[in-house]
Amino acid sequence: MKSKSHWENVYATKPPERVGWYAPHLHTSLAMIANCVAEKNARVIDVGGGASTLVDDLRGRGYEQITVLDLSSAALSTTRSRLGIAAAKVEWIEGDVKTVELPPAYYDIWHDRAVFHFLIKADDRQQYVQNMQRSLKDDGHVIIATFSPEAPPKCSGLEVRRYNPKLLQSELGGGFELQEQKSEMHLTPGGVEQMYLYCHFRKRVHTQ
Ligand SMILES: C[S@@+](CC[C@H](N)C(=O)[O-])C[C@H]1O[C@@H](n2cnc3c(N)ncnc32)[C@H](O)[C@@H]1O
Repeated sequence: MKSKSHWENVYATKPPERVGWYAPHLHTSLAMIANCVAEKNARVIDVGGGASTLVDDLRGRGYEQITVLDLSSAALSTTRSRLGIAAAKVEWIEGDVKTVELPPAYYDIWHDRAVFHFLIKADDRQQYVQNMQRSLKDDGHVIIATFSPEAPPKCSGLEVRRYNPKLLQSELGGGFELQEQKSEMHLTPGGVEQMYLYCHFRKRVHTQ
């Protein structure tokens, strides 16, 4: 799979703090997650979590049920090693977010920073949304951070789709309702400005 080899190569050749999307802490993600649910036993999945420190910070804040999913085994092993013995308390899934089999109606919070925006084909986005919809509990939360229209057209050398809240809402469809949006300027370790859009959606409960 071309995409997997791209990401394995990135993580095999660059230290985690030199990749363009690196931030020492994902403050906006942490604040949005805290706003979603107060309970620390909420089930949180970080899709395409890579080598990010979100899992470290969630553990540090007392979250007990965290899953990190990524295509890249190199990224997951970097994060696991950094966490040390705490890694045993986290669920690790190596797989493709579009197709991996996740437990149905299981997660309270789905977090994605800089993954959905790589899905250029409509079919891929549809598969992603279906997997997300299926694995989230009714009334579950979605936090997605993508490049904004002002950001560069590529991330990690790959073409991305850039989003405003309306476009992201239309991709997710009527099963999700936008709750909160935030723009954030990210400065890459190389000094390039990238405007991110963070959106928090809530899964609609279907009553029949
Ligand atoms: C730009 S990085 C962002 C990493 C992390 N979310 C962060 O904010 O630091 C994109 C990540 O998504 C992963 N990824 C890309 N496509 C994926 C897919 N289809 N399924 C699962 N992970 C994927 C890559 O391996 C990489 O770790």
